[in-house]
Formats: sequence, C-alpha cells, structure tokens
Amino acid sequence: PTTAIIIVAAGSGTRLGAGAPKALVHVGGRTVLGHALDGVFAAAPMQVVVVAPAGHEGVVDAEIAASAGERRPLAGVVTGGATRQRSVAAGLAALGAQITTVLVHDAARALTPAPLIDAVAAAVSDAGVIPALAVVDTLKQVDGDDVVGVVDRSVLAAAQTPQGFPRAALEAAYARAKAAGEEHTDDAALFAAAGGVVRSIAGSERAFKITTPSDLERACMLLGSTNG
Ligand code: CTP
Ligand code: MG
Repeated sequence: PTTAIIIVAAGSGTRLGAGAPKALVHVGGRTVLGHALDGVFAAAPMQVVVVAPAGHEGVVDAEIAASAGERRPLAGVVTGGATRQRSVAAGLAALGAQITTVLVHDAARALTPAPLIDAVAAAVSDAGVIPALAVVDTLKQVDGDDVVGVVDRSVLAAAQTPQGFPRAALEAAYARAKAAGEEHTDDAALFAAAGGVVRSIAGSERAFKITTPSDLERACMLLGSTNG
C-alpha cells in the first residue's frame, strides 16, 4: 500500500485519570487502542504505525497481534514523545519509502468507523483532509465567569481524526514547526501553518474522543457492555 496510518497512543490520559495510559484502559472487553485498531484493520490495507507510551511497547504489540490478522506484517510499534506532536513525528520517521499519503489518528477515538478512515484516505490530494462535525452547543465568549459575547457557531466545526495529508508536504510541515519551535493542537493546524490547504469532510458521531470518564461510559454503552 502507498497509504499509512499513524495511530498516536502515547498519551498519559490525565483527564481520564484511570491510573494507566488511556490507550491501554479496558472498555467492553478490549483496550481503547484495541478498538481503534479493529477500525483501522477493517479499513483498506495500509501501513499501520502505532506510537506507544514508553515502556508499554510490548502490550501495544500484543494489541496489534490481536487485531491485525493477515495484516500483521503491515503494522509496527514506535515509542512516543512528551507531546502529541512529538509522538506523530516519531511515527512519521517509521514510514516506508513507498508511502505517499499519511493519515494521523488518535487511539482515543476508539470507535471511529472504518468507512470514515477510508473516506479520509480517498479525499487526500495536495490538500489535507479532516473529518469535522457541526457544533451543536450554543457557544459563548467568556471572560472568567462573565459572558461577554456570542459566537456564530455556523462558521465553526469540531475537528476529528483521522486527518489525512500528502506525505512529503506533511513531513516538510513537521520539520518547519520543529525548527520554529511551534506546538500545534492538531496536524491540520500544523499543516496550515506551513501554508497547506485543508478541507473537511463529514465526520462521525462515533469518532468522538475518549477524554473524560463520561466519554468512557459513552463508549461502554455504545459497545453494549457493562464490564468496564
Ligand atoms: N498522544 C500521544 N503522545 C502524547 C500525547 C498524546 O501519542 N505525548 C495521543 C494520545 O494517546 C491520544 C491522542 O494523542 O490518542 C489525543 O490526545 P489526548 O486525548 O489529549 O490524550 P492524552 O494526552 O493521553 O490525555 P490528557 O490530555 O487528558 O492527558
Ligand atoms: Mg493530551
């Protein structure tokens, strides 16, 4: 394949507070990462690079083995860094020479449907692609506890992953951000900061990010499971 997906799973999960790296927390009989891998291996064949928390490479490798089936040779593990951006950079360094399109995906978006992964990959051109959802809440501009203004939500969208990019331009954008000492909140922002064009496609409610304990509960309910 000429497409690769980097699954960043190296975060500590501070807001979840489960006492273990978030990607390795169990829900519905698998780890968060295991569910994410099930989605990825149900998509079209691609190189899979999982970025693991330092010291947890072995268990991550076992999760890959449990999901990959005949695609096991396409998948590997690298060790993550102190920030998400550094973890993605570690994944980029592990791409095969033939890769021309790169998707970057949060392991924490454990229930992301395979068709969304395929749709992002198919939409990548010279421009980057992100899945996005309309914002449903009424948004307020605040100053501490004071509500100081309204925000027009029709011009806003909530970004998800996987986010897809042409490989060479993404690598150049990462090199640029590193040299400039910039830290971006997602790959689309980093890509745009280097002058790249980013487009959105329809996201999925199921691609929500497990961030807090209530997100883990939601995932548990969607999996039809109560065994944590
Ligand atoms: N991530 C990573 N390396 C880091 C930080 C984050 O690979 N140094 C990954 C996480 O594992 C996750 C994704 O980036 O899959 C999105 O990050 P987030 O939801 O913020 O996860 P955590 O950083 O683990 O959570 P928290 O911010 O609550 O500590
Ligand atoms: Mg984080």
